Amino acid sequence: MPLIAMVSAKGSPGVSTAALACTLTWPAPTLLAECDPAGGDLLSGYLSKYELPSDRGILPLAGSAVRGTADMDLAGQLIDLDSPRQQRMVLPGISDPAQAASLNPGWARLGEFFSTLPPTVIVDGGRLAAPFPPIPLLASADLVLLVLRPKSIRTISPAIPAINRLRRELPDEDRLGLVLVGDGITTREVVHNLQVPVLMRLAWDTSTAAALCGEGKGRMRGPLMRSAIAGYRSVHTALASRRGAMNSLARRDTDSIPVIR
Ligand SMILES: Nc1ncnc2c1ncn2[C@@H]1O[C@H](COP(=O)(O)OP(=O)(O)OP(=O)(O)O)[C@@H](O)[C@H]1O
Ligand SMILES: [Mg+2]
Repeated sequence: MPLIAMVSAKGSPGVSTAALACTLTWPAPTLLAECDPAGGDLLSGYLSKYELPSDRGILPLAGSAVRGTADMDLAGQLIDLDSPRQQRMVLPGISDPAQAASLNPGWARLGEFFSTLPPTVIVDGGRLAAPFPPIPLLASADLVLLVLRPKSIRTISPAIPAINRLRRELPDEDRLGLVLVGDGITTREVVHNLQVPVLMRLAWDTSTAAALCGEGKGRMRGPLMRSAIAGYRSVHTALASRRGAMNSLARRDTDSIPVIR
């Protein structure tokens, strides 16, 4: 199933909140992998009220991926948010940014592994400007979504170097999209300025966002969650059209192979 990575250029535009809102609302089995090299937020935020083991997560799985045993070791590293249904799973991130260097050799293998899993995998990749960002993992992603707050033309300008970097690093640019968080300039203005499609526009909704950070109750049916569900449709339309384009390319390649008689 698809591997969808969310990242930011810099600042805190709401990557972790967007990734969790999608994980909790999308109508498909979903696994949220916290791959932010600056550290995961869930165990100290949304999941802080639960007594959960702090020794599981992305770090031991990165070691397993390098050794080629990730498929056997995955289940022991996950937290099932609606146990025992395994519809919404979390792979917790590192607890200390100093551990990011240890993740670095595993990024590419983790990406390859995630792209083979049955659920939709949503990666919280954090800020591209952080040390040891999961760039090698992004090469395996079906979609890489840059999250930004479109308050004004000026506030979206840090996205330009990040988009240029992603265009250089990704195998093709069809997999690049934007997630806009909150109000500001129109979606059309963002697309015109950045030349990247917008696949989701998430509502600014402080009470739900606070609940997703583990503070207060919030409204799990509020505007943020409704806009995340609406985003599912456009993300899957983009995935379907990418798959269609890839199939026709593959057909064209096969057609052009000379038949040896
Ligand atoms: N849609 C939203 N509506 C209101 N507040 C939001 C929304 N999304 C995020 N926030 C708030 O913005 C702050 C940053 O959000 P979040 O931690 O998700 O950002 P981030 O991009 O993951 O940051 P970092 O790079 O530091 O991990 C939090 O206080 C969060 O509650
Ligand atoms: Mg974050």
